Amino acid sequence: MEVHGKNGLGASELFDHEAAVLQRYARAARDGEAGLCVPVDYDPALLEFIPEEILAKDYGCGNPSRYARAGETVLDLGSGSGKACYILARIVGPAGKVIGVDFNPAMLELARKYRRDVGDRLGYHNVEFRRARIQDLRTDLELVDRYLASHPVRSVEDLARLEEYEARIRREQPLVSDDSIDLVVSNCVLNLVRPEDKKRLFAEMYRVLRRGGRAVISDIVSDEPVPPEMMGDAELWSGCVSGALVEEDFLRAFEEAGFYGIRVEELGSQPYRTVEGIEFRSITVSAHKGKEGPCIERNQAVIYRGPWKQVVDDDGHVLPRGTRIAVCEKTYELYSRPPYEGQFILVPPRLEVPREQAATFDCSRDRRRDPRETKGLDYKVTKFAGSLCGPQSNCCT
Ligand SMILES: C[S@@+](CC[C@H](N)C(=O)[O-])C[C@H]1O[C@@H](n2cnc3c(N)ncnc32)[C@H](O)[C@@H]1O
Repeated sequence: MEVHGKNGLGASELFDHEAAVLQRYARAARDGEAGLCVPVDYDPALLEFIPEEILAKDYGCGNPSRYARAGETVLDLGSGSGKACYILARIVGPAGKVIGVDFNPAMLELARKYRRDVGDRLGYHNVEFRRARIQDLRTDLELVDRYLASHPVRSVEDLARLEEYEARIRREQPLVSDDSIDLVVSNCVLNLVRPEDKKRLFAEMYRVLRRGGRAVISDIVSDEPVPPEMMGDAELWSGCVSGALVEEDFLRAFEEAGFYGIRVEELGSQPYRTVEGIEFRSITVSAHKGKEGPCIERNQAVIYRGPWKQVVDDDGHVLPRGTRIAVCEKTYELYSRPPYEGQFILVPPRLEVPREQAATFDCSRDRRRDPRETKGLDYKVTKFAGSLCGPQSNCCT
């Protein structure tokens, strides 16, 4: 569907967001478009082996690839020319894997053009590009395209058969499987997804991540709500402006999808664009998957170190500074790892409770952990820390 108006993409209240985005980025893949990105400093060593054409067609606003680690399987949503995927290929190394997803055939063609070359230069091939809408990572659009070539839709019956086919491929050969990804990244794409699909998009990121996996997303956010007439402007929408969520709504979308430990890693000090006084700037957010699961009681406690008077986690646990708080095994484990690692003192019980004997954690209990619970009611030892400070030690000289 063509979207007409000023610059070929003008304002229309009823315009098709997806068609506007497809058109603009097909053109950007072919001819390039200056000013469609927020400049970012990359480590030049990571760009060395990436062809100039890929580097020139950079439409990002952050650098989420720097959060990847060797050996990880990384999914890049809206991979465009493939720049981030090729950077990630080097970071994750031969034991890792990178999957770029984009729905624009012109962008995919550009990204795939250098796949073999880059792999040969690296000495391994660990990148692939797949076609899908990022809000539906089950449906492989290349399979749908192939089906449509031999089964054009001319009637309601044809449409029903197409829907049946889509349901089958989603079920039997999902483009990205559940719990299969260590790190989801995306750079300046989420804002382009249709308003009615944004919730599903966050749910999809969550679905594909394995437990313990994380998302690091760079995007554009606004400091005030975007008025409907601005959202109806195809030029502003496809230019990564008016599809932006308000800062706090962006963070809340991660929370509502089930993520925990959500953190603003970066927020641009200067706006990318200011339109009618509303500032649109780049943001990078990290978020973790894996707070769900059974809560078992193993007599563990945590002490929040401060400096805040108290903190509240994504499960609603309130942790006053310096207080022994009773937590279940799952929360205890979560606090021992990033993004919480180092913020809590972990207090194990004196005698470990074997998992198979552990009861379900009582969420209605007093949230303080009496030290007697950790030590045991029969703990009656009396001793001094003498061995550290005795005649053999020089600590008192
Ligand atoms: C602003 S560009 C960013 C490209 C790339 N991430 C980069 O940093 O250069 C947006 C990209 O997302 C793709 N895109 C937009 N909406 C999409 C959607 N709903 N599903 C899949 N890809 C989408 C576009 O085709 C385009 O390649």
